[in-house]
Amino acid sequence: MGDLEKGRKIFAQKCSTCHTLEKGGKIKTGPNLYGLFGRKTGQSPGFSYTEANKNKGIIWNEDTLMEYLANPKKYIPGTKMVFAGIKKEEERKNLIAYLKQETCK
Ligand code: HEM
Repeated sequence: MGDLEKGRKIFAQKCSTCHTLEKGGKIKTGPNLYGLFGRKTGQSPGFSYTEANKNKGIIWNEDTLMEYLANPKKYIPGTKMVFAGIKKEEERKNLIAYLKQETCK
């Protein structure tokens, strides 16, 4: 189980410039992430994804997000998400617990 408060801070610092989490949230540089868990890649309404992201074809869940967020460009070569990744496993766990809470409401 991740630490939700720590996850909230990581999202605020590293992700929120490009992503919103709430239902119907603003589309910024990146897609709104509401409803992400259990959904295939590239399905957020109204966002223009790369073919690479759209065609990755995996289901987003704790395991796939753990791998993606460690090194996005390695997991999805050709992604236009400009983000180096989060090396520390503990930080990714906390972030993903927070993402799940916020995007599954
Ligand atoms: C895509 C999460 C940081 C821009 C995605 C996707 C996820 C994600 C899960 C795939 C969505 C899908 O397939 O529906 C995160 C998290 C971040 C983060 C948790 C922080 C740790 C950023 C930052 C930027 C950004 C800082 C902008 C500089 C994008 C863009 C895409 C994307 C443009 C679409 C990629 C494409 O179509 O190739 N992000 N992201 N993200 N993200 Fe992020």
